[in-house]
Amino acid sequence: MLAGKRILLIIGGGIAAYKALDLIRRLKDAGASVVPVLTRAGEEFVTPLSVSALAGEKVYRDLFDLTDEAEMGHIQLSRAADLVVVAPATADLMGKMAHGLANDLASTLLMATDKRVLIAPAMNVRMWEHPATRRNLGLLQGDGVLVVGPNEGAMACGEFGPGRMAEVPEIVAAVEGALGEGPLKGRHVLVTSGPTHEPIDPVRYIANRSSGAQGTALAAALRDLGAGVTFVTGPASVPPPAGVSVVRVETAREMAAAVEAALPAEAAVFAAAVADWRVANAAGQKMKKDGTGALPSLDFAENPDILASVARMGAGRPRLVVGFAAETENVEAHATAKRARKGCDWIVANDVSPGTGIMGGAENAVTLITAEGAEAWPRLAKAEVARRLAARIAQALA
Ligand code: C5P
Repeated sequence: MLAGKRILLIIGGGIAAYKALDLIRRLKDAGASVVPVLTRAGEEFVTPLSVSALAGEKVYRDLFDLTDEAEMGHIQLSRAADLVVVAPATADLMGKMAHGLANDLASTLLMATDKRVLIAPAMNVRMWEHPATRRNLGLLQGDGVLVVGPNEGAMACGEFGPGRMAEVPEIVAAVEGALGEGPLKGRHVLVTSGPTHEPIDPVRYIANRSSGAQGTALAAALRDLGAGVTFVTGPASVPPPAGVSVVRVETAREMAAAVEAALPAEAAVFAAAVADWRVANAAGQKMKKDGTGALPSLDFAENPDILASVARMGAGRPRLVVGFAAETENVEAHATAKRARKGCDWIVANDVSPGTGIMGGAENAVTLITAEGAEAWPRLAKAEVARRLAARIAQALA
């Protein structure tokens, strides 16, 4: 799928650099040519000889290597690529990129390129969670840099948490997505995500515990398969992914209007935790205690069921309509009933009982309910659930 594509691969200095060797092979298997650049720190982890042997290309190593400059200047090197990939992207490289430093070959190429840049961060969990890295990540995403991973898991330093570089197949999928070459190329997919806020008065609202993590991961996974994604999100606690078209809403009714405006789509996935009811007698001014001890009472009105109305559309219905079902008991039975009631094609059901740590957590254990029956998936990182689901959506639309 990457035939004829030229990828400039910058290998930073981290233990995950060993995976870059396999990445070179997989990118070449997919038909790409890989021009490798090793940072000085990268050379401490993998040798220039292995890198160039696997790439079948010269490895570029230093800005001040005059021969390279004469042969091919760094500007030209960065422009001749179709995509620039940084794997592993260390905290140092991310910091340089975010702040526009250009004091070696890798950082200079990253400043000089006019192509999209995809980074696969890898670092110790504390470094990943450091406010400086959070800031730099935000700046890079704002600049349109694409990010794959990191994943959560055991780290070479003996700690556990997010910071492991994405696995090679995930990076290859992200490369295909970044080049618009995935199986969903040219397809428009709609994803809703996050909670909704239903106002009680101008300062208070009714919300729920959805973080938006699963919907966000799914939008990113669909993007990585090449889809054009419209991402309609309530006030989530995780930032929306880069490279998708983001529509921010607060209430269920705003979400319904945004979904209608985003159609047509070939597939629509409703991962949002939409409030079933809104406050019908929301106050126009902040409600005050009046000193008498009188308690306010709220009246409720039912919100539109966005999923059901899209699933039951006649003409213009997306070919595939997927709902989510957050349940706290009898997950499979309730979700199967919900699929029939809503008229959607699939339901992704999960158990959000207290103690599962799923709502707001990094992992999810889902059961996929289709016309063929129920499939229980093992407990997986939300990003992995998203990738598997995106792959199934691509199959269904093929
Ligand atoms: O009925 P329940 O809220 O459990 O169904 C969950 C599914 O329905 C989710 O896919 C959710 O996004 C969708 N939904 C919706 N509009 C609503 C309520 C739920 O789209 N008003």
